[in-house]
Amino acid sequence: MYPFKQDYYAVRNGWYVLAFAQDLTQQLVSRWLLNEPVVLYRKQNGEPVALSGLCPHRFYPLGKSQLKDDIITCNYHGFAFDAAGVCTNIPGQDNIPSTCKLRSYPVVEHGMWIWVWAGDVDKADKSLLPDLVEISHDRPGFTPMPFYFHELKARYQLLNDNLLDLSHLAFLHATTIGVGANATVPEELTEEPRILRSRRRMQNCPAPPVVKTTIGYDGVIDQVNGMDFYAPGMHAGFADMFYPQGHAEAGKLLRKAQVFHAVTPATHNSCYYFFGMASDDVAQMHLMKEYLKKTVAEDIDASESIEQMLAIHGDPVREVVKFSDRNTVRGRMLLQKMMEAERLP
Ligand code: FES
Ligand SMILES: [Fe+2]
Repeated sequence: MYPFKQDYYAVRNGWYVLAFAQDLTQQLVSRWLLNEPVVLYRKQNGEPVALSGLCPHRFYPLGKSQLKDDIITCNYHGFAFDAAGVCTNIPGQDNIPSTCKLRSYPVVEHGMWIWVWAGDVDKADKSLLPDLVEISHDRPGFTPMPFYFHELKARYQLLNDNLLDLSHLAFLHATTIGVGANATVPEELTEEPRILRSRRRMQNCPAPPVVKTTIGYDGVIDQVNGMDFYAPGMHAGFADMFYPQGHAEAGKLLRKAQVFHAVTPATHNSCYYFFGMASDDVAQMHLMKEYLKKTVAEDIDASESIEQMLAIHGDPVREVVKFSDRNTVRGRMLLQKMMEAERLP
C-alpha cells in the first residue's frame, strides 16, 4: 500500500515500541501490532509480557479480561493463560487441546520503552535495538523523559515520511520550532546498516519561536538539526543551537534538545506515536513537554489528514518529488528492501 509497492505495508522482523516502560504495570494493556491484537502486562517479578490479545475460544479481546498472579483469565468463558501463553484451565473439562494457546512475542524493556519483536521468534535479535548511548538516551548527566503517547488514524509510513523530511518544520511548525532555513538548507546524508542519518547545518538564521518563548533569546543563531532513523521503528533527533559568529558569546551552546520518536504500525491504517526527550535540564524538559504539544498535534493532524485523502484517492497516488525528499525516498527504499528480503525463501 502507498507509498510502498502493492501488498507491502511494514517490516515484520523488527523491534517496535508498544508502551512506555513507566506505563506497564500489572494491568492488562491492549495494543495492535501489524494488524494483530496484542495484550501486554508486567509480571510480578517485573518482567514484561506480550501475548496475542485474541482468545482462541470465541476471539474475545484478552485486554478486557482479568490478570491475577501472572495468569490472564478470559472475561467471556474463563479460559486461563500463563505468561508463556500456555492454556492452564478450561472451565468444565480436564482436556486442553494443543491448539489452545496464545502466541508469545519476544519483548524487552530497553531505555524508556517496551519493545516487541513483530516477526519470526528465531530472528529476534537484541543487537538490533538502538544503542542508548549513541542516541543520547543514556548520555552522562542526561535524564530521559517520556512525553506523549498517541494513536493516529494514519498508516505508519505517513509518520515516518514526516520525520524523514524535516523541511516541513518551516511551514507546519512555523509558529513553534521551524524557520525558513529548515526548507532551504540542503541536508548531509549518511548511512549505516538499518540506520539513516541526516544533518542540516543552518548558520545565521533567525531563532525559531521556541527559543524566544522558553529561553527569551530573540536574535539569530547557528543551528544543527539532525535525525537518525533506526529502521523500522525509531527516529532519534536533535536540535543544537549556538550563538552565531559575531555575537559576544559566539559558538556557545544556547540549547540542546534530544528527542525520540518511536513509530509503530498498529493496523494498516493506524499507528502509535511515542514521543520522548532527554536533557541535562529537567526544568526545561517540563517546559518543553507543555510547549511541544502544539507541534506534535500539527504532525498528527497532517498525517491523519493525508490518510483521509488517501482513503478517497486509493492507491496508486502519483507524487511530485522535490530535491529535499532524498531522505524520505531512501527511508522508503530501505524499508521496501527489508520487506522484500523477508519474503525471500
Ligand atoms: S472467548 Fe475467551 S473463553 Fe470464550
Ligand atoms: Fe513535525
